[in-house]
Amino acid sequence: MDYMTRAPAEIERMPRGGPDASCLDRLLQTDRPEYLDSASDGARKRAVIEALERTGEWFGNTARFAEIAMAEVADVPDPVILELGAGHGGLSRRLLDWHPTAQLTVTDVDDSSVAAMAAGELGTHPRATVRRMDAVAIDAGDREFDLAVFALSLHHLSPSAAARVFAEGTRVASTLLIIDLPRPPSLLHLARLATMLPLAPLVPFVHDGVISSLRTYSPSALRALAEYADPAIEVDLRGGLFSPQVVLARRGDAEASRPNGQR
Ligand SMILES: C[S@@+](CC[C@H](N)C(=O)[O-])C[C@H]1O[C@@H](n2cnc3c(N)ncnc32)[C@H](O)[C@@H]1O
Repeated sequence: MDYMTRAPAEIERMPRGGPDASCLDRLLQTDRPEYLDSASDGARKRAVIEALERTGEWFGNTARFAEIAMAEVADVPDPVILELGAGHGGLSRRLLDWHPTAQLTVTDVDDSSVAAMAAGELGTHPRATVRRMDAVAIDAGDREFDLAVFALSLHHLSPSAAARVFAEGTRVASTLLIIDLPRPPSLLHLARLATMLPLAPLVPFVHDGVISSLRTYSPSALRALAEYADPAIEVDLRGGLFSPQVVLARRGDAEASRPNGQR
């Protein structure tokens, strides 16, 4: 299905499971916001961000995501990297530790997260800049970065906003790396949700985890979003049933492209 030819309202209605989603998969989605999306519930939001930082360390995701990012800049002597939706900044701290010359711009759309990151080690690191930035409208010039990373965050955005991340991320960076949760086949998805649901009312991190799982885009949805943003964007999708999905997006023939995300 060619999403480039679709109107904005049509991409907005695309199921999270993608244009070819099954009936059951179409039911496994929600518009309910996470605590992380709330403008008012600061305490729960903080609890979720801190839990994300801890679990990223415990289960090795921070290191795994840093390895993926490092591989993408392996051939660049002094890489200039943008982290979008950094939340707690754990990934950027790891990249600064591992790479002796990388420059990091560490950002999030949420003011309280930006303030917390700026008050920590990233705020004084000589190779880091912490600032507020919206991944949907990136305040940076074309090709300013070698790599832009958006980890565990794309599912927070509606389809048309997510398409703009593809357009904007590939405009400001040579490579856009999006990492997000896997979207398992529907029966497996249901089983996973059933194990999480009892704890969702009690534990903010699990509450947001259930909603994240329902809002995560499938591989076919990710391809449709990139195509809608700009057919010149080439995507390489990796990841499995149980591991996070990894999307590498780059612009092919930039001259010939007419990005939807920039109309
Ligand atoms: C689940 S957290 C992920 C934090 C961190 N990247 C990680 O991997 O643990 C999602 C983050 O995306 C941020 N976010 C949501 N919408 C955004 C947008 N439009 N632009 C930038 N960041 C956004 C939220 O504020 C939040 O910090």
